[in-house]
Amino acid sequence: MSEQKTWSQRFEGALHPAIARFNASIGFDIELLEYDLTGSVAHAKMLAKTGIISSAESDTLVKGLEQIRQEYRQGLFKPGIESEDVHFAVERRLTELVGDVGKKLHTGRSRNDQVGTDTRLYLRDRITHIRQQLKDYQQVLLQLAENHVETPIPGYTHLQRAQPISLAHHLLAYFEMAQRDWERLGDVYQRVDICPLGAGALAGTTFPIDRQYTAQQLGFSKLYANSLDAVSDRDFAIEFLCAASLILVHLSRLAEEVILWASQEFNFVQLTDSCATGSSIMPQKKNPDVPELVRGKAGRVFGHLQGMLTLMKALPLAYNKDLQEDKEALFDSVKTVSACLEAMTILMREGIEFRPNRLAEAVAEDFSNATDVADYLATKGVPFREAYNLVGKVVKTSLAAGKLLKDLTMEEWQSLHPAFEEDIYQAIAPQQVIAARNSYGGTGFDRVRNALESAREKMK
Ligand code: ARG
Repeated sequence: MSEQKTWSQRFEGALHPAIARFNASIGFDIELLEYDLTGSVAHAKMLAKTGIISSAESDTLVKGLEQIRQEYRQGLFKPGIESEDVHFAVERRLTELVGDVGKKLHTGRSRNDQVGTDTRLYLRDRITHIRQQLKDYQQVLLQLAENHVETPIPGYTHLQRAQPISLAHHLLAYFEMAQRDWERLGDVYQRVDICPLGAGALAGTTFPIDRQYTAQQLGFSKLYANSLDAVSDRDFAIEFLCAASLILVHLSRLAEEVILWASQEFNFVQLTDSCATGSSIMPQKKNPDVPELVRGKAGRVFGHLQGMLTLMKALPLAYNKDLQEDKEALFDSVKTVSACLEAMTILMREGIEFRPNRLAEAVAEDFSNATDVADYLATKGVPFREAYNLVGKVVKTSLAAGKLLKDLTMEEWQSLHPAFEEDIYQAIAPQQVIAARNSYGGTGFDRVRNALESAREKMK
């Protein structure tokens, strides 16, 4: 193809084909196409409003741009490597469609402020979508928690049985994390919602443009105040990757727990057929592929965050081609977070079934009520540290005798300390142990009911 290069007549020779491929971003920035069109429509209208081009010219440009949108939606617009990037692809097609007036679109604009605008428009949309996905995920956790207020589950520290808790309380911990994720993305949105268009290549433009007008058409709430900053800032993308990484930290923690719970060793949940997979060789197996993949995919997004920080580190002002490397990281992170949120939402909605009998058994068969024995003595006036040491001894002798605390006879209790009375059995029963932790934010059933209520409020 005889190459009509998009840049100036200064160039005589054509790019080496391998270098053209190396340089091109069209293979991935086509993802921005609709945003590029939207940004260009706003720019074209601004050019007419300010008298830089005529209204007729602007109308022609807008019509042509909208036609490209239709072609794209119908799968007919498939620019190749000759276009280098999505911005050139649009300008080239526009000029084919509307003739020479198409060449006026780029007046008072550079690809540098253009690509920044496109990326922000893209990310605004995706953040809105991901926040909705977080709400859907929270809704599922909330529903599950509602059904399990009085279902006990062992609570752990160091992955050692610590104290029994309400299953709803455990699930609501993940609800809270997701709530912070949702809020954090709302904060990030504010920094994405700043318009760089009109910054030109780096220094602004000689044309009497109206930056407020373009920003307003595109629904941006602010303008970049400094043109150099406008074209070279990628803080907004890094912030998004931080927020995305935290979402995956949180999802991967729940994923890990589901994997443990589904193991034969824990046996707290059963995986349903809709979210589990089989083994190609071991017919007895049901594998938790979904949470395993979520756990695994977290690493991709953390990697992209690290990559983006490294991309920006020590980058001189203003635009450098390095910045083209921001896109694949961003797109992949967006897709990964969305896919993981969707999968975890389905998993928690229909992919696991808790086994209440097994959970009740689990909390009854250990020493996770030991703290309550110490607390019992402390309420009867024994200093807590003394009570704690005494219970340590009780646990030791019970273990040696193959007994649990609930199996000790009244005589045994009395011989340990005269303060023990018949009500010790009630005090160490798992349901009572849980119900008694009624401090704010604790697992006591009444507290959990309050927490559910405020969780419901947060969903409004
Ligand atoms: N494809 C480029 C990018 O993604 C667009 C901006 C190009 N600007 C330039 N001065 N070469 O960064």
